[in-house]
Amino acid sequence: MNFKKILTVAAVVIASGMAGIFHSASADDSFSLNYTALKNGTNDTSMADQFSVKPGSARIVGDHYQVTLSIETPAEYGLFPVNILQVNGQTPSLSRSTSDGKSVITYTFNTNNLTDRIVGHMTVNIPAFRYSGDYLYDIVFDATGAPTIDGGKVSEDQAQEGAKAAQAAEQAQNENAQAGGAGAAGKAASNKNRPKAQVTPKAAIKHDKKDKAAGKSLPWWPFAIAVAVAVLVGIFTEWRSRRAGAKKED
Ligand code: HEM
Repeated sequence: MNFKKILTVAAVVIASGMAGIFHSASADDSFSLNYTALKNGTNDTSMADQFSVKPGSARIVGDHYQVTLSIETPAEYGLFPVNILQVNGQTPSLSRSTSDGKSVITYTFNTNNLTDRIVGHMTVNIPAFRYSGDYLYDIVFDATGAPTIDGGKVSEDQAQEGAKAAQAAEQAQNENAQAGGAGAAGKAASNKNRPKAQVTPKAAIKHDKKDKAAGKSLPWWPFAIAVAVAVLVGIFTEWRSRRAGAKKED
């Protein structure tokens, strides 16, 4: 093999190696993706939104998007109070981590497009607050500018459906925060909205039957009958004694 041939082979090997690197880098290229969690079937912001880590991320894998989102809860809610059971009809792949006592649950699921509303199913269990919930919630993405599967970019028009709902919800949240006197919108406000109160779910409140009976006022009609009978007996007795007196006089 002469020197020229060796150089050519080396160049081809390096070029194909680099192509491989670049190819896998682009396949793994994830992009950040803004989103809002909404109450299922509404445009109202879900309680889950204030615990959602923004932005999320996504990447194109073959013919679909793989989306990764996280929920972070404070230390006082205990270790991993949130579980994600289903997203977009799939069992998501989950990973859990902690930082400074905060729990982070990260879930990954697939979707064919970023303009659809996605439905998720979560459970929340916070024994310290005697709170547990089993909820559906919706996810809408603000997908403007995100890469499309065919190599383009999601246009504003395409993203509008999802983004509109997301923005409306975000705006409503900020307005609520301002109306509540929180002053600054955004994270500080949503932290302020975070429930601190202890909640006992209705199902857990057992009403004692005895307590209920004790609290109930007694009916009025037995007293009325008793008084009426007493009056009648009194009249009858008086009438009898008068009649007996009258007979004696005879
Ligand atoms: C101590 C903390 C919490 C309290 C006191 C609390 C309280 C409540 C209450 C009172 C409701 C309304 C109940 C109902 O509509 O049936 C609710 C709904 C809900 N909560 Fe919580 N919650 C807490 C934490 C969380 C966390 C950490 C998450 C998830 C990250 C969460 C997610 C939800 C969801 C998804 C709903 C359904 C309505 C919606 O989408 O906003 N909650 N919560």
